[in-house]
Amino acid sequence: MSSRDYLEIRGLHVYYGNIHALHGVDLSVRKGEIVSVVGINGAGKSTLMWTIAGVLPIKSGQILLDGRALPSRPHEIVALGVSLVPERRRLFSALTVMENLVMCAILRRDKDGIASDMERCFDLYPVLKERLLQRSGTLSGGEQQMLAISRALMSRPSVLLLDEPSLGLAPLIVESLFDTIVKIRDEGVTVLMVEQNALQSLEISDRGYIMQTGEMIINASSQELVENPAVRKAYLGGD
Ligand SMILES: Nc1ncnc2c1ncn2[C@@H]1O[C@H](COP(=O)(O)OP(=O)(O)OP(=O)(O)O)[C@@H](O)[C@H]1O
Ligand SMILES: [Mg+2]
Repeated sequence: MSSRDYLEIRGLHVYYGNIHALHGVDLSVRKGEIVSVVGINGAGKSTLMWTIAGVLPIKSGQILLDGRALPSRPHEIVALGVSLVPERRRLFSALTVMENLVMCAILRRDKDGIASDMERCFDLYPVLKERLLQRSGTLSGGEQQMLAISRALMSRPSVLLLDEPSLGLAPLIVESLFDTIVKIRDEGVTVLMVEQNALQSLEISDRGYIMQTGEMIINASSQELVENPAVRKAYLGGD
């Protein structure tokens, strides 16, 4: 492992019963990077995210944070600073924006810290402050994604895992959402993102991985990926 690798995954195998979903995944993210994993439906992107978050068990292989194995239980992983924004947001849709944010700070006792973290989310996404008492299920798709990211930020992560943040959003909304992901990184959070929307995600990423049927088949700088003809053809809608 290079000393600069912050999140390091080695030889990861994961199964659903006897379905072999991850076939020896290797991946590394350095501190302060945005890294994207790009792959089509069923490639294993969400499986990878749920496994890092401790929701799915590891059959074999390792996941290290700053050189140490992650604990096995989801709440311990969050406490260590790794926070997942799941695919399709998974908000508490009957609860308000405010309640969704407070819910995830439920284990925290530092009221002042919670308030200042909320303010930080509102600096990033001012519209959430206007919608504080609105039920999250009535927000637009873009606003729901902003809330889902804010909810994850409330645990003060050092690593943010984003599972298809652009899903179902119009390209302009994606662009402004991705601008905020860059801001989050610039404030010191390391970002690992999985996406089907390859072009837009690689635009804000330092490096990228191409995932296919449970394996990483290519790993390169975002620029190299965007310029690679085979990658363009298969994943970027190019020719
Ligand atoms: N709960 C499950 N039980 C059995 N197999 C599953 C389960 N969830 C996913 N799989 C299988 O594991 C593989 C990887 O699925 P996964 O959801 O990780 O892919 P993905 O890249 O996130 O796809 P998508 O782009 O559709 O979100 C697929 O073959 C899928 O059918
Ligand atoms: Mg998925």
